[in-house]
Amino acid sequence: MPYDAKDPFLNVQTFVQTGATAVPELDRWQQIAEEEVQLVAEMTRRNELSGGTPVVREFEKEWREWIGKRFSVTTVNGTSALYSGYFGLGVGPGDEVVCPVNTWICSIAPALLLGAKPVFCDIDPDSLQIDPVDLEAKITQKTACICAVHLWGNVYDLDAVMAVARRHNIAVIEDCSHAHGAKYKGRMCGAIGDAACWSLQGSKAVSAGEGGVLVTDDVDVFERACLVGQVNRVIGIDLVGAKYAELQPLGLGMKFRAHPLGIGIAQVQLRRLPELNRHRAAYIEAVEAGLKDVPGFRPIKVYDGIERGGYYGFPVIYEAEAAGGPSAESLVEALKATGLSVSMTPYPNLHTLPLFTKGFDIFTRNRGPLCAHEGYPGYRPGDFPNAELAQERTVFLPRLSDPIPGAADIVLETLKRVVTQTMRQPSSVK
Ligand SMILES: Cc1ncc(COP(=O)(O)O)c(C=O)c1O
Repeated sequence: MPYDAKDPFLNVQTFVQTGATAVPELDRWQQIAEEEVQLVAEMTRRNELSGGTPVVREFEKEWREWIGKRFSVTTVNGTSALYSGYFGLGVGPGDEVVCPVNTWICSIAPALLLGAKPVFCDIDPDSLQIDPVDLEAKITQKTACICAVHLWGNVYDLDAVMAVARRHNIAVIEDCSHAHGAKYKGRMCGAIGDAACWSLQGSKAVSAGEGGVLVTDDVDVFERACLVGQVNRVIGIDLVGAKYAELQPLGLGMKFRAHPLGIGIAQVQLRRLPELNRHRAAYIEAVEAGLKDVPGFRPIKVYDGIERGGYYGFPVIYEAEAAGGPSAESLVEALKATGLSVSMTPYPNLHTLPLFTKGFDIFTRNRGPLCAHEGYPGYRPGDFPNAELAQERTVFLPRLSDPIPGAADIVLETLKRVVTQTMRQPSSVK
């Protein structure tokens, strides 16, 4: 019986058995459901559209209680949450901030815009997470902060990173934008650093469309975060300390306040997160277990004591040489031709961007941390061998949130078939 692409539910077995080549739609997930639509309609009717509304305050409370921190504030996006966090920690001109070289640019851009110099560090190419040994090597007298990122739903070695930070008395921001609900040795990611930020952008595991959250236990970090972007946060309601009281409610006059409708949507999604994480985990673990039978592929490394979460991407390692097959890039092209949604790493390593190779006169008139006369050396290919290796051999498989029955088998079968075919005829995909 030929495979019927219109009827994927009934034909998963057929797909596997018959060698059909077109991959069906594997995910039934709709990020926005009726509950979000209803809530947005109700909030709109109530004109709950601006400022620290009841839904915004409720969500902030829910989030900090979930993570186990004293303070939380929502923002327009994850980037502004990070800006607020850096500002909260006092990062500014003359400082250096270290972050992994394979993260999204917004992990570090806010520090740069506050006048601090970005310093990149290498990664463990098996876990794709920050390498604590290279991290320590990058610390200088000027290092004010480490931005450590839980990339792709996986979790970095928090004990090792925190030990480096404590040895040198440096603050840590956990960027949890890829790992909503992940845990480290039983504690929530975001609970362990001096501050933590999440993006709630549309494709994240908890989405506000656009939004962000910052948490911290440090009253000064929280009040400074509010000072920089939360016009009209009121002492006695949102703010607790007296230190910046005379500057409120206008603060510094900038506005990073989240849109209440987005936060309403995120509140519904936060309550749905455990289920979403269970579905994503079950599918990813099934594929990872099956990779032992796919030549050249293996799962990424997960350190002891970690429960992944959010699963913003599904990276696996493909070593072309071991497979006797084509390069990862060629293989990805061949896999895409089947309809399987795969890609190479979606982010460039940051040290390869012209901004960081050549530098840039950010504040004009030769000012700012990326100016050559400020001692900015510029990065070169080869500066981060592990991240560069990871870029060559990491393949991103479909991330499914509500997979059709048998989806993991279809992914594995497609990988196996395409790898085997391309090994037999390597010239056809070169
Ligand atoms: C690791 C990381 N940090 C920060 C951000 C910035 O978040 P936003 O897009 O909400 O500003 C992102 C966005 O994807 C991200 O992936």
